[in-house]
Amino acid sequence: MTLDLTPDQLLSTTRAVRKRLDLDRPVPRSLIEECVDLATQAPTGRNRQRWHFIVVTDPDRRRLVGDIFRRALATGGGQPPTERDLPRMFAHPGSMERISDGLRHLHDNIHRVPAFVVPAIEGRTEGASVLDQSMTWGSILPAVWSFMLAARARGLGTVWTSAQGPLERELADALQVPYDEVMLAAFIPLAFTLGTEFKPARRIPREQVLHWERW
Ligand SMILES: Cc1cc2nc3c(=O)[nH]c(=O)nc-3n(C[C@H](O)[C@H](O)[C@H](O)COP(=O)(O)O)c2cc1C
Repeated sequence: MTLDLTPDQLLSTTRAVRKRLDLDRPVPRSLIEECVDLATQAPTGRNRQRWHFIVVTDPDRRRLVGDIFRRALATGGGQPPTERDLPRMFAHPGSMERISDGLRHLHDNIHRVPAFVVPAIEGRTEGASVLDQSMTWGSILPAVWSFMLAARARGLGTVWTSAQGPLERELADALQVPYDEVMLAAFIPLAFTLGTEFKPARRIPREQVLHWERW
C-alpha cells in the first residue's frame, strides 16, 4: 500500500521526521526491502553500484547502535546548525529551534525507533581528489534520497543524520562493516509516521539559487 501522492507531492513533502516517528509500531521487513529495491534504481558512477544498506531492527543491536548515536551527537555529529549557518536561515526564523527540539526528542528516544538504516559505499574518500570524492558520494546519495522517498510513499518517515560521522569506526565495528574498505554515508532512523500529512518546506527563494546561463 502506498500513499495517494503525486510525484510532485512526494518530492515536496518528504520531510526530516524527528518528532512524528511512531515509536510503537514495527516496520515490516518487506517494506524496507521494497525501499532498497527502489533505492538501487538510482544512478551510480560507471554503474558500479558500490552501495550497501545496513538495516538494524534487532532490539539488542538497536540499543548498542542507539548508544553510539547518542554519543555521536554529544561529540558534534548530528548537531543543529551553527552561527555560521545563520545568514542562510534568516529567511526561516524558528527553523533552528525546531531542529534542535527535534534532535533532542530523537536523542532521548533513539532506542525506541523501530529501525535504523545505515547506507554505506565501498571505498573511502580521505585524501581523494574532488573528482573521486564526487564519484563516491554521488554514487550513494541519490540512492539514499530515493530510499527516503520510497519510505515516505509507504507511510514511513526518515531523517537523514550525519551521526555516523564522529564515531564511524565504532559504528562500523558494531555493524561488522569493514571500515577500511567501506564508508558509512548516513544514519537514518526509520519508522511509520504519526499521521501522513506533511507540507512543502519554505526554502531560499528560487531567484537566489537559480542561475541562467552564468553565475
Ligand atoms: C547531509 C545531511 C546531513 C544531515 N544531518 C542531520 C543531522 O545530523 N541531524 C538531523 O537531525 N538532521 C540532519 N539532516 C536533516 C536536515 O536538518 C534537514 O534535511 C533540513 O533541516 C531540512 O528539513 P526538511 O527537509 O524537513 O525541510 C541532514 C540532512 C542532510 C542532507
